[in-house]
Amino acid sequence: MDNRPIGFFDSGLGGLNSFPYMQKYLPEERIVYFGDTARTPYGSKAVSTVRRFSLQIADFLVRHQVKMIVIACNTVSATCLEMLQEKYPAIPIIGVIQPAAQKVINSCGTMNRIGVIGTKVTVASHTYKNIINTFNPNLHVVEKATPAFVPLIEEGIINNDIMDLTVKYYLDDFVLSNRLDTLVLGCTHYPLIRETILRLYPMLRIINPSEEVVSTIKYVLKEKDMEASGSDFTNTYYASDLSENFLNMIDRICGAGANVQFKNLDMS
Ligand code: DGL
Repeated sequence: MDNRPIGFFDSGLGGLNSFPYMQKYLPEERIVYFGDTARTPYGSKAVSTVRRFSLQIADFLVRHQVKMIVIACNTVSATCLEMLQEKYPAIPIIGVIQPAAQKVINSCGTMNRIGVIGTKVTVASHTYKNIINTFNPNLHVVEKATPAFVPLIEEGIINNDIMDLTVKYYLDDFVLSNRLDTLVLGCTHYPLIRETILRLYPMLRIINPSEEVVSTIKYVLKEKDMEASGSDFTNTYYASDLSENFLNMIDRICGAGANVQFKNLDMS
């Protein structure tokens, strides 16, 4: 048993999309979340910058005595997972890409034309394609960067004509010319536009890493005998900018009265 919190981080609010699954499957676990809302988006920045930000955040979470770190961001998972695992060998650190890729590999069956959408950095890394094709070279995997989604989502522009047009701009040709049957949401912000994508492309099967990552957390905690039991720790949500959208998202997912704190890591 281990009642220390789990550290989660993302460039912004995307990592919060895992929380309904945390509440459902791991209700005893407590969380320290860091959303780098002042410096989002990460996905169009240089990899060296993403690494520097990720190290600052991981150090911050480790100072909060977390028992595990969940990189709730594909961009960071694609570029910093090994670096963080090497820096903190005593703390289990997981990313979101391996669980989502594993779900694709395990569940494809007759569906084998897979599209992955993500940030520029995630797509340039080809991490999804490499993992999926290492296990199953017969799966047809194509990737596409869709960088305008994150700023729109962080602005709360989600269910309207602007988002519909943006989705169609990126996906019409990608889905049709590749004859996709499966779409992996390779960015933790994208579950917020899942319904829009499904409405426009109802034939697609959508893989959502936010859900898959919680299964992996559960597995790791059980395997290491680190599950919490009756912790009285309260979840804390840190953000480098207390944007209206971040606060709204916390209210929506975690309920009003959540413990939200401002933290500027540039000064730490
Ligand atoms: N939510 C993040 C991801 O999964 C990052 C988006 C961004 O900051 O560009 O990639």
